[in-house]
Amino acid sequence: MKDDARRRVAELRTLIAHHDRRYHVLDDPEISDADYDLLVRELRALEAGHPELVTPDSPTQRVGASPATHFAAVAHRVPMLSLGNGFTDDDVYEFDRRVRKLLGSDAPVEYAAEPKLDGLAIAVVYRDGRFTQAATRGDGSRGENVTATVAQIRGLPKRLAGAAPALLEVRGEIFMPLEGFRQLNEELTARGEKAFVNPRNAAAGSVRQLDPEVTRARPLELFVYGLGEAEPAATPDRQSELLGWLHSLGFATSPLATTVRGPEACLDYYRRLAAARASLPYQIDGVVYKVNDRQAQERIGFISREPRWALAHKFPAEEAFTLLRDVEFQVGRTGVLTPVARLEPVFVGGATVSNATLHNMDEVARKDVRIGDTVVVRRAGDVIPEIVSVVPERRPVDARRIELPAACPSCGSPVAREEGEAVARCTGGFRCKAQRREALKHFAGRRALDIDGLGDRLIDQLVERDMVRSPADFYTLEATDLESLDRMGEKSAQNLVAAIAGSRATTLPRVLLGLGIRDVGEATALALSRHFGDIEALMEADEAQVQQVPDVGRVVAGHVVRFFADSANRELIGALRARGVQWPAVPVVRDAGAPLAGLTFVLTGTLATLTREKASAALVALGAKVAGSVSKKTSFVVAGDGAGSKLDKARALGVPVIDEAALATVIAEGTPPPA
Ligand code: IVH
Repeated sequence: MKDDARRRVAELRTLIAHHDRRYHVLDDPEISDADYDLLVRELRALEAGHPELVTPDSPTQRVGASPATHFAAVAHRVPMLSLGNGFTDDDVYEFDRRVRKLLGSDAPVEYAAEPKLDGLAIAVVYRDGRFTQAATRGDGSRGENVTATVAQIRGLPKRLAGAAPALLEVRGEIFMPLEGFRQLNEELTARGEKAFVNPRNAAAGSVRQLDPEVTRARPLELFVYGLGEAEPAATPDRQSELLGWLHSLGFATSPLATTVRGPEACLDYYRRLAAARASLPYQIDGVVYKVNDRQAQERIGFISREPRWALAHKFPAEEAFTLLRDVEFQVGRTGVLTPVARLEPVFVGGATVSNATLHNMDEVARKDVRIGDTVVVRRAGDVIPEIVSVVPERRPVDARRIELPAACPSCGSPVAREEGEAVARCTGGFRCKAQRREALKHFAGRRALDIDGLGDRLIDQLVERDMVRSPADFYTLEATDLESLDRMGEKSAQNLVAAIAGSRATTLPRVLLGLGIRDVGEATALALSRHFGDIEALMEADEAQVQQVPDVGRVVAGHVVRFFADSANRELIGALRARGVQWPAVPVVRDAGAPLAGLTFVLTGTLATLTREKASAALVALGAKVAGSVSKKTSFVVAGDGAGSKLDKARALGVPVIDEAALATVIAEGTPPPA
């Protein structure tokens, strides 16, 4: 028994040392943080049961990693602490309760609430306002001297603005924004070098390396959130003011930081940032609550390197390691074959994931994914889970390459890859059941004909039994036909027939979208409708005429013209009309000179006097675009009541924000808002 424990303890220490090196020295972990924690926890448990096995050099006896050898060591005169973690609402209530107890007061506590940036902790020292040194956290007491590489970060002030203390050590997080990370990995793989597993490792790897010129070319940013030492020590009394002061000295701070009072407000903040997370341009892995009063912080103090006045409230991890068991090819509406990974189920991003997209064969080749590989899976927000990368060290000898099938897995037609296209397609067209099924789902979908109750499972059955071949066939279905389907009673069959009948009165943009013309989405369908007014005019148009439509280029115009040149498609439109589908003509508006042409709006929150749909329609009618998410290209964000993450993002990006009253003026007067 004892020998077993001794053997396992030795084994765990070797494993942990190996993974420490992968993570801290090579910035290239092989296992997830959660799996690593399991190893450490197992070791702790064994040591607890066998105290004689504890040695001073056991990984359980230290906090962080010891500094990598190729950098000079820097002693932190004020230790760089880490943060206690919380995961549940209860953890937050418990934290707040403890804080109030330690303060000996039951009054609601004010907290500074900040995003928890997912990068590399750094301490930067200024003497007489000049940048003199940068150090990593290391084990909290001793870090690595990375002055030369950190000096390359453009956002780091080399000289402080205003009256800075003679000695000032500022702490913050160096991170790599997602877009920069994506580009960097593209460049690395193009050069045949190894891509980084995630932005955090990319940031760490870019700072903790010896050639400053390499760092210079890396898209790194720094947000600061705290202090080490300051001499003279006069600094702001509150964490929130400290951030403002650091900002005035020239540092970037998170635009999402704020103050809240009490645990409920902490949780509101957590939820707001969790919702905003997927649309932020960089990764955050949680939020941090800090007692705002810095004197109170001092009274509360810390235990074992974690301040008791702060809590990191973590989001569920968005990435995990798992096994790729197999790859299947899914055939989409336009015949595109998408490789889909079948995975050993894994809990990630708050859900169990067993399938992930591999996008296309170029991606498969770029990431060199093989069946049998251990892969990193990512699931962020509502985004489809994807395979980020593989762990080559864990590749079994019998791993199999992924091959594009020569024939469509659904209909057996040849698969072709067009010149210059990343995707391969089934050439079966409507003969292919898979394409038919997807086209029918698209036609019945919410944004197209919006046939309530006609879900994917039903359409699968209708196609399988060959009861529906083209969208026009929906309109000949009778309740008695439908009753034979799984889980269909008399009543639900009647309801469905009524819903199909109800979809006959529709609009031109919905029909144009529903037809599934390649690259014609909602916005293009709307633009085509407004430009041509009815379907006949569009059917007769040539490519040059279609290209007159705003935002329609040569490629899309080609798709539109070829679609209507196909007699089967012209017949479909005839059949839809013959079966009673109808739509009113649309007043023709040609965009040149439209008052809001070239402007993009994003609507968020609840508007008091208009629905969002009506507001969008009005803006579009004035030539504006209305987008669903905020980016640098957004011209204005309209913020209604309860606006949340999109508003935060607009502020973060400096996009102008207008209120409902200003929107009403824009719509009433047909003029852009004052910039
Ligand atoms: S405060 C004494 N604030 O999280 C408090 N840390 O898990 C020290 N981090 O080492 C940290 N965002 O690298 C603080 N807004 C934030 C943060 C933050 C990210 C990192 C930091 C720290 C780690 C602890």
